[in-house]
Amino acid sequence: MSRSIAVAGKGGTGKTTITALIVRYLLEKKEGPILVVDADPDANLGTMLGIKPEKSVGDLRDDLLKEIKNLPAGMGKAAYMEAGLHEVITESRGFDLLTMGRGEGPGCYCYMNSLIRKFADELNPSYAWVVMDNEAGLEHISRRTTNNIDYLLVAVTESPLSFNTAKNIEAITGAIKNSIGRKFVVASMVRPEKIDSVKERLAGLSFEYLGNVPRDEAVENAILAGNDLLTLPDSASYRSIREIMSHLGGYNAAT
Ligand SMILES: Nc1ncnc2c1ncn2[C@@H]1O[C@H](COP(=O)(O)OP(=O)(O)O)[C@@H](O)[C@H]1O
Ligand SMILES: [Mg+2]
Repeated sequence: MSRSIAVAGKGGTGKTTITALIVRYLLEKKEGPILVVDADPDANLGTMLGIKPEKSVGDLRDDLLKEIKNLPAGMGKAAYMEAGLHEVITESRGFDLLTMGRGEGPGCYCYMNSLIRKFADELNPSYAWVVMDNEAGLEHISRRTTNNIDYLLVAVTESPLSFNTAKNIEAITGAIKNSIGRKFVVASMVRPEKIDSVKERLAGLSFEYLGNVPRDEAVENAILAGNDLLTLPDSASYRSIREIMSHLGGYNAAT
């Protein structure tokens, strides 16, 4: 049985950073094989993991929509998608990265979504962990193009706006509660003297507080230098991720 973690929250709250550090933790713990899903259309998780994905599921879907009338005889849409699946998975050391890419354009591609879901269903059991970086709208989760989630981590900063997003996420996930196990909030880059006020604001949410990932110069320097976060020194942010993850380990997966 694979276990899955999804990271969500307002743009700029540190979702991708937190996701990359979680991947690093699982790699260090040798908890693999890991499927990392970049479900943010503004995909930049690859950069933080030191790899460059070539194609996304969205690209594959676009290709299929273009080619749909010219498919070779006997090749159905599902077979076309299946054949292209290896192109949207980038293999790296200890983990694979699946890039979702852009969501849907206008119109409903429900059939495509059901295909994508079918592949996700087939894919997930071969991994011990699925770790997903999302955009604030949780599109892939709310459209169920991704599988059930055991742990949802919502990132918030000191900014009240990030709480508005957390509230929206609470509403979205409330409507699809069957597919999400436990929901948490992770504070990100909150200064020590502001932690209490952040916790007070959290009182209005049903999410449990997991900890704060402090602002970390080592992360800033790595990003500026274009380096990945898998080779980051053992700094403050990573120590915090380690604590958060060992805390998560005490919870059962989705009920
Ligand atoms: N703990 C941290 N310490 C220092 N900088 C951080 C930290 N977390 C995020 N950042 C920086 O903040 C910016 C936004 O982070 P990112 O992870 O891309 O957020 P999101 O994915 O939510 O948009 C990036 O430039 C990143 O380097
Ligand atoms: Mg991001």
